[in-house]
Amino acid sequence: MCGVVGYTGTRQASEWLLDALQTLEYRGYDSAGVQVVSPSGNLHGVKCAGRVAHLRERASVANLNGTCGIGHTRWATHGAPTDRNAHPHLDCRGRIAIVHNGIIENYQQLKRQLMMSGHTFSSDTDSEVVAHLIEDAWAGPASGNLALAVRNACDRLEGSWALAVVCADAPGTLVVTRNGSPLVVASTEDGAYVASDVMPLASVTSRVVQLQDRDVATLSPDGSIAISDRDGRVVEHPTAITIDWDASAATLGGYSDFMAKEITEQPEAIERLLSGRLGEHGIELDELTLTKAELASVRHVVIIACGTSYHAGLAAKSAIERWARVPVSVEYASEFNYDEEYIVDDNTMCVIITQSGETADTLTAARRMKGMGCNVFAITNVLGSTAARESDGTLYVQAGPEVAVASTKAYTAQMVASYLLALRLALAKGCMTREEVVKHFHDLERIPDLMREVLKRRWQDKQAVRFFRNKTSSLYLGRNVNSATAFEGALKLKEISYLHAEAYPAGEMKHGPIALIEGGFPVVVVVPADHVHDKTVSNIQECLARGAAVIAVATDGDERVAKLCSEVLWVPRCPNELIVPAVSVLHLQMLARYVARDRGYDVDKPRNLAKSVTVE
Ligand code: AGP
Ligand code: GLU
Repeated sequence: MCGVVGYTGTRQASEWLLDALQTLEYRGYDSAGVQVVSPSGNLHGVKCAGRVAHLRERASVANLNGTCGIGHTRWATHGAPTDRNAHPHLDCRGRIAIVHNGIIENYQQLKRQLMMSGHTFSSDTDSEVVAHLIEDAWAGPASGNLALAVRNACDRLEGSWALAVVCADAPGTLVVTRNGSPLVVASTEDGAYVASDVMPLASVTSRVVQLQDRDVATLSPDGSIAISDRDGRVVEHPTAITIDWDASAATLGGYSDFMAKEITEQPEAIERLLSGRLGEHGIELDELTLTKAELASVRHVVIIACGTSYHAGLAAKSAIERWARVPVSVEYASEFNYDEEYIVDDNTMCVIITQSGETADTLTAARRMKGMGCNVFAITNVLGSTAARESDGTLYVQAGPEVAVASTKAYTAQMVASYLLALRLALAKGCMTREEVVKHFHDLERIPDLMREVLKRRWQDKQAVRFFRNKTSSLYLGRNVNSATAFEGALKLKEISYLHAEAYPAGEMKHGPIALIEGGFPVVVVVPADHVHDKTVSNIQECLARGAAVIAVATDGDERVAKLCSEVLWVPRCPNELIVPAVSVLHLQMLARYVARDRGYDVDKPRNLAKSVTVE
């Protein structure tokens, strides 16, 4: 959720730490801080509630001289987002500093014990116990060995953590470890780096190592990194991965915000995803570790995800059921995890969809599914993410870094990726001939151009903004596969414009939400030319009869909708109904963005939200 960064080497630590925290801002946070070990062997730091820009101002007058340090952006879980609770946290003597991402579940018990033995606390966070536990270990059996002190302290922790630790009495040494929260290290000529994800590292190297849970890494100023595993054994050749995102992919590149950039990048993302996927035998999906015979015997697909990725799962359900004739259940990870009676059998395949690959709920669900003997296939955007490492097979959607908290390009890429899986399954199960699969694949290949056409029509979305002015609520409707589009459109609006949006399958409206409608109430209806068109048009009429201000998302040339609705967001005709969600959602992404900007909000960093939700 928040960001952890650290550096030891030859350059001024605070410079990179502040830049790195800025790069990690997209993950969502409410306070920030840095701490460096000064040449005189003392800890110096600044921390505050608010933005990294504010921290930077404070750092500029604090003279943070030192070549080894740690930094943090906090997303408060325990204790209000105040200066005092911001990380880093120090031990009683002010000699050890820690930053922590995650939750220490047994912190109350530990804090009580530590206080009874004389420790004094300066914050309300769960994290601070870690600094004091390391202090005790350093004063005791692990004296002089920071890695051992950190390991001993972690042995007493329950919960999740990514930790970076420096000690004024071990200048130049940076110790990091993780359990459940992501952490990546990199060795370079000018020193060694650690960060919560690869984004801040892309500017210094293209080779990074993902730490495994409970690994403890000691980073030294010469760039060397010594890693030991959970049993204290040296990890001789940690697997490095190559970051194939160039650092500029995570810059604005002339756009006013990342959301605008990422919406626009969707056609290229889909082209990348589809490139090389059509082969002699149909869809090339070597990432699947199930054999053709195993695929043929799949009788139930369980898709598990959260938020936007869950909506991609809803579209995936339609495609898999329609093309491969396999029943699909789509589950919210957070609900699935507590459904003790969930039924799976030998022929159940699990698909997790997660942009970040680090969503705690989804990872827990995947582990549970594996525990029940299921093959777990991950659809993710982040190379080397925990989801990728822990799953049996991983399909990278290759959307490139998604910086805006509100997911856009990852959504459509995830959806199309799941369509590839649907076609692969359809072929394996004999529901389609190779020729039919090829035809469907060529339809998918038309998505980028159809998206480009919608992007050209963004003025339509800008115009529709007036329907939301001075309103407090809205309704989004769609039928069949496009109920996913309605859900996603409403989520986008809620996330960035803070305007309530209720999404419903259009036919459900009459069972309750219709009571909301009064004169001028905004209703967005996704009504493409499909087999449920007539039914959805009837729903529009029901809304209009009650005075709703209807914004339709309709197919070019739809005279009926044009006559009924004063505001229509036009979508070009798609070769297949299942393709419509990947194309029409672009209008709803742009609409949400325009509404948010109209209200004066920062579309990239919506309040209260984090990019990757690493706590359950
Ligand atoms: C998307 O706009 C949201 N920020 C959020 O719903 C997100 O999709 C959800 O938290 C799941 O994230 P993941 O795809 O990284 O697992
Ligand atoms: N639980 C810690 C706190 O509230 C860390 C939160 C985070 O991951 O930023 O300070």
